[in-house]
Amino acid sequence: MSTPLAVPFISIHTTRLTLEPVAERHADAMFAVLDDPQLYRYMLSEIPDSLTSLRERYRMLTRGLSPDGSEMWLNWIVVPREDGVPIGYVQATIPTGEASALLGWTIGRHAQGWGLARESVRALCDHLAAAGVTELHATIDSRNARSIGLAEALGFVREATFASDDVLDGVRGTDHSYVLRIQTTAP
Ligand SMILES: CC(C)(COP(=O)(O)OP(=O)(O)OC[C@H]1O[C@@H](n2cnc3c(N)ncnc32)[C@H](O)[C@@H]1OP(=O)(O)O)[C@@H](O)C(=O)NCCC(=O)NCCS
Repeated sequence: MSTPLAVPFISIHTTRLTLEPVAERHADAMFAVLDDPQLYRYMLSEIPDSLTSLRERYRMLTRGLSPDGSEMWLNWIVVPREDGVPIGYVQATIPTGEASALLGWTIGRHAQGWGLARESVRALCDHLAAAGVTELHATIDSRNARSIGLAEALGFVREATFASDDVLDGVRGTDHSYVLRIQTTAP
């Protein structure tokens, strides 16, 4: 069995942002960001029910592990250095013993279009690659032009398209599966 990766669950700094490991103290500000049905147009299952449930979820996520311990669940809150007010999150799910991660990303609508998703997801990819993750995956609804644009701008390549679980406006959509393979230099 391969040695589990040790991905440091620590703050990540970029030019304009700090990615902070999720903590319960982020819940109030993040509820204001996430309590926005428009944000979930292409990921219907993830609207937080209440501030209380978001606090509980964030408390659980501070472990960085799924409840059964079989996966690393690494969530970072995206915080602009300028004002310290959270604007979104990035996340990586890594099955124990594997060197591949499934990524997720969300930036509140008020903060979109300024390259902050690109900056935060790029930093996450670099952080995971430095820890030995060799394959980064993302699953994106085929109608989610912004997210597709983000993935492709970062070098993700579309590998497959399949029927989505989500029904939007009465129509079951399709998802694209994207991958970014990290180039490792030969010793
Ligand atoms: C996807 C999301 C994170 C992008 O955030 P953003 O702040 O708009 O992204 P950025 O400003 O960093 O832009 C990054 C790249 O995305 C692409 N992009 C941004 N806006 C776009 C648009 N309106 N149409 C197409 N591509 C777009 C561009 O390639 C852009 O790179 P560029 O600025 O060099 O052209 C944001 O729209 C979001 O959170 N959406 C809701 C949640 C969601 O759908 N998450 C993804 C689930 S798979």
